[in-house]
Amino acid sequence: MEGVTDPVFRSLVLALHEPQGVPEDPLPPKGLGGAFTEFLRVSVHPRTEKDVRRHTGPRASAIPVGLQLMGNDGPRMAESARAAVRAGAPVVDINFGCPAKGALKGCAGASMLQDPGAMESLVRTVARAVEDESNGSIPTTAKIRAGYDRADRVEELARAVEAGGAALLTVHCRTRAEGYCPETDWSRLERAASTVSIPVCGNGGIERFEDLERMRQETGCAYGMVGRAALGDPWLFSDRTVSTQRCAEFLLDYARAIKASGPVSYRGIAGRLKQLLRLWTAGDLVPTEAARKQWLTESDPQRLLERLEALAGSTFLLPQPS
Ligand SMILES: Cc1cc2nc3c(=O)[nH]c(=O)nc-3n(C[C@H](O)[C@H](O)[C@H](O)COP(=O)(O)O)c2cc1C
Repeated sequence: MEGVTDPVFRSLVLALHEPQGVPEDPLPPKGLGGAFTEFLRVSVHPRTEKDVRRHTGPRASAIPVGLQLMGNDGPRMAESARAAVRAGAPVVDINFGCPAKGALKGCAGASMLQDPGAMESLVRTVARAVEDESNGSIPTTAKIRAGYDRADRVEELARAVEAGGAALLTVHCRTRAEGYCPETDWSRLERAASTVSIPVCGNGGIERFEDLERMRQETGCAYGMVGRAALGDPWLFSDRTVSTQRCAEFLLDYARAIKASGPVSYRGIAGRLKQLLRLWTAGDLVPTEAARKQWLTESDPQRLLERLEALAGSTFLLPQPS
């Protein structure tokens, strides 16, 4: 999730889960089968292997992490996809869902939902490049929203992605116009899943472990994708409850890993922790909205870390700032 997640956070979350292997059919409730990076924007220049490596970070888990590209120029996207394969990406994904102004102005992301023909052609160009560069060993996938302004063409959008040669389609059930509204309509996922024969991964509104299986049962989606809820509960992909102490340890591990990954101030670390605390649901770390406010309004970064240390029973072990 662009601007929120990063390789450091992703590695910590993946480390909490067992690799699953290829799921069977019918699909039993499993765990975390894979993840995608936040999008890597392809605009004026194609992305290089170095860009891709920096974006994905070191490979720390056997769980595959697909590299997501966002752009609209076929040749540049294809060259970036080839670089992704050379950099070791196990999957290359195309973003057709981002509703941000920058993406729309550049006619990428969700903007492309207005032109299924262009989507199909972009998927085809990228899929051919990936197939060629990887000798057919790496799949190309794509993520769409249910529509631009309305969801009445979700079947057409799903067909475009399949016809372009994607091996998997992720559908975020909200339209571009609906943004990240609280309401979700999973019947759109069912419509997409029953239209195409490639596996569909449903997304939108999964809040707890049970929702993953419910989504698959109600919609026929082969997989479920979790967005924001995983920021507040990194254990969500397994049926596990965790203690408050474990939550505090996780957040301190995250703080340490951010610190180890490059120069960053205490304030920067606290800011990143607050992005998670804003949505935190695991354990009893944030039992009430008043408690959430206390975490989020803590203006002294060191005090925030000390509160976590007290709950975790461990120290942050950072050198004192000069
Ligand atoms: C801040 C933010 C950044 C996001 N960045 C990306 C991204 O880079 N790539 C992507 O495919 N989806 C991105 N998303 C969308 C989520 O992956 C997901 O589709 C969306 O939040 C709906 O799922 P949810 O209801 O489980 O949160 C982003 C969402 C948010 C709120």
